[in-house]
Amino acid sequence: MLLGVNIDHIATLRQARYRTMLDSPNAEPSPLTGALDAKAGGADSITLHVRGDRRHIQESDAFAIRRECDLPLNLEMGNTQELIDIALELKPEFVCLVPEKREEISTEGGLDVITHEESLKPTLSTLQEAGIKISLFIDPVAEHVEMSRKLGAEMIELHTGCFANAQGEEQDAEVQRLTEAAILGHSLGLQVNAGHGINYTNIEKLYTVPHLTELNIGHSIVARSVRVGFQNAVREMRDLLNLYPS
Ligand code: PXP
Repeated sequence: MLLGVNIDHIATLRQARYRTMLDSPNAEPSPLTGALDAKAGGADSITLHVRGDRRHIQESDAFAIRRECDLPLNLEMGNTQELIDIALELKPEFVCLVPEKREEISTEGGLDVITHEESLKPTLSTLQEAGIKISLFIDPVAEHVEMSRKLGAEMIELHTGCFANAQGEEQDAEVQRLTEAAILGHSLGLQVNAGHGINYTNIEKLYTVPHLTELNIGHSIVARSVRVGFQNAVREMRDLLNLYPS
């Protein structure tokens, strides 16, 4: 199981104080240092989300990480021309297309690939022609998995937000939804990833979901790092991923 470390919230902390002074040598913490620490802690890739409103990661962060960190880069982005242009220049290994609403705190809900089929098609082909592999961040719903295949994505990332917010039997039902979507995705030849709201406790429940290749995890690792340091927080998560049955 691969670990993609999402470093957005390192930038969130920096932006809380240095939004207008990013060139300052005091503009800490640094997402680039976070990416390098994540690598040292056992991350397999770095995920970052350049949002339309630039609330956390800035373009300059993305380019610095591309230049100075040799892990594969997964750029999360909304389907806009501005972000497509940035992706073509940045050339990450992967783009994960996500829905983006300005007022949301974090990405809420998966991308509605059925409603947006027509607008997604040219984006996928433009990015794929540039050698970038595409992941679609979708809810664990059969029709969305099938549409992801039809659109020609290489990967899906199953949204685990509902799973993370649920408890008890409700959470078991979410695990079942994720399981069915993962089985379907795998049978259609898609790489199946998952992410959102995964933490050091609930990850155990995902061990029963088959065919997961990569988990993208951010907030819980950044939160844990306040106590143990970022590298250790990544390593602890890495150790938990290693318990996923191979
Ligand atoms: N995957 C995607 C597509 C996301 O949008 C996010 C949140 O930015 C994550 C994974 C990571 O979620 P979290 O920060 O809750 O671990």
